[in-house]
Amino acid sequence: MGIDKQILSVIDELDELRKTRDDAWQIPRVEGELLYQFALACGAKTVVEVGTSYGFSGLFWAAALKRTGGKLHTIDISQKKYDSSQATFRRAGLGEVVVNHLGDAVEVLPTLKGPVDIAFLDGIDKKQSRRYFELIWPAVRKGGSVFTDNTQTHPEELADYVRFARSRPDAVSTEIPIGNGVEWTVKL
Ligand SMILES: C[S@@+](CC[C@H](N)C(=O)[O-])C[C@H]1O[C@@H](n2cnc3c(N)ncnc32)[C@H](O)[C@@H]1O
Repeated sequence: MGIDKQILSVIDELDELRKTRDDAWQIPRVEGELLYQFALACGAKTVVEVGTSYGFSGLFWAAALKRTGGKLHTIDISQKKYDSSQATFRRAGLGEVVVNHLGDAVEVLPTLKGPVDIAFLDGIDKKQSRRYFELIWPAVRKGGSVFTDNTQTHPEELADYVRFARSRPDAVSTEIPIGNGVEWTVKL
């Protein structure tokens, strides 16, 4: 699938570690593979991620961005996860591709410069998804995408968000029923 061996071995390692960690909450591998391919297909240069955790989803974004010459800006509020994921990205040879941000996404998102090709919203509190969306949307380029995780695993928490995304006159939005379920919103 085109991901280089060094990155793939760290993906394998984190996929194993998910069985022993109770706070990883990482996306299923099949979802990561789809997002990787999507980033490649649209030639993404700037991806913004809310919710780094231990870096599992970030490894897929960064694998694509290594090929396109782009950057991943990934945000987590946990010092432990910031430290751990930063070390993981370096070990995967992605230290130059990933910018780790430590802090509340509500504060970090407005500091990020556009144009953003893809934003991936995967914080813990799914009710905050609309707030994250509103903070990053002005920086998303026309034709750019926002992916919001957990539509299948947290349908009630995300119901208002999905309605909001689908009713926007400046967007088209639909669910991709893979992995945790992802709402895919494209800027018109
Ligand atoms: C579902 S996990 C992310 C999983 C990751 N995307 C993956 O698939 O590997 C959510 C993460 O969001 C972080 N988080 C929670 N509240 C946050 C906030 N307000 N700002 C930034 N990160 C936050 C948590 O520390 C946690 O690591």
